[in-house]
Amino acid sequence: MHIDILTVLPELLESPLSHSIMKRAQSKGLLTVAVHSLRNWAVNEYGQVDDYQYGGGAGMVMMCEPLSKAIDELKTKREYNEIIYLTPDGIRLDQKVANQLSLKENLLLICGHYKGIDERIREHYVTMEISIGDYVLSGGELAASVLVDAVGRLIPGVLNDETSALTDSFQDNLLAPPVYTRPADFNGWKVPDILLSGDPKKIDEWRNEQALKRTEQRRPDLLI
Ligand code: 6GU
Repeated sequence: MHIDILTVLPELLESPLSHSIMKRAQSKGLLTVAVHSLRNWAVNEYGQVDDYQYGGGAGMVMMCEPLSKAIDELKTKREYNEIIYLTPDGIRLDQKVANQLSLKENLLLICGHYKGIDERIREHYVTMEISIGDYVLSGGELAASVLVDAVGRLIPGVLNDETSALTDSFQDNLLAPPVYTRPADFNGWKVPDILLSGDPKKIDEWRNEQALKRTEQRRPDLLI
């Protein structure tokens, strides 16, 4: 999979994409991520990419021209399955959306800033609009890193133990069961006996029970 990201703050995306599983995905060649500064397509020598909004009101809007030029240029190199604008008024990112995106070849992510991007870019280029939750971030960059992480780890071969994404929370609309590691007794706090029993069938049953119980208690909406 290849992901291009258009942003006015490339620095914000560097660290989240260069460690841990995202680093591994890229060094294995399963995922390539290219971050592009929108200022490369600025309308003047000052690097301007935003302007006052028509109709008045506080806050700048990202202009059509730099975005249009950037997208057109990137489109000469790749055919995108989706051009995604990260915005609080998009569809909510969930595991299902992440699963679907993980099957795509090429994605272009657009990070908005200020008041957002000119509506005409959304109408004429953007094929999908995604939000990561009902709260407001200062820009789309952190949302884009969340999306790349959620999607990137689902690409086959990225995770070490191929089955481990299958037992993640949400993968079957259940939250994950509790997990424990050594020691079996920490200051008198004990690991449930069944996990020490060595009986894989019983352990599996216990985990399923716990996952269901946890989901009923914390996220009953997932069970509807
Ligand atoms: Cl995608 N962008 C911004 N700016 N805020 C958000 C968001 C996206 N998702 C939730 N809040």
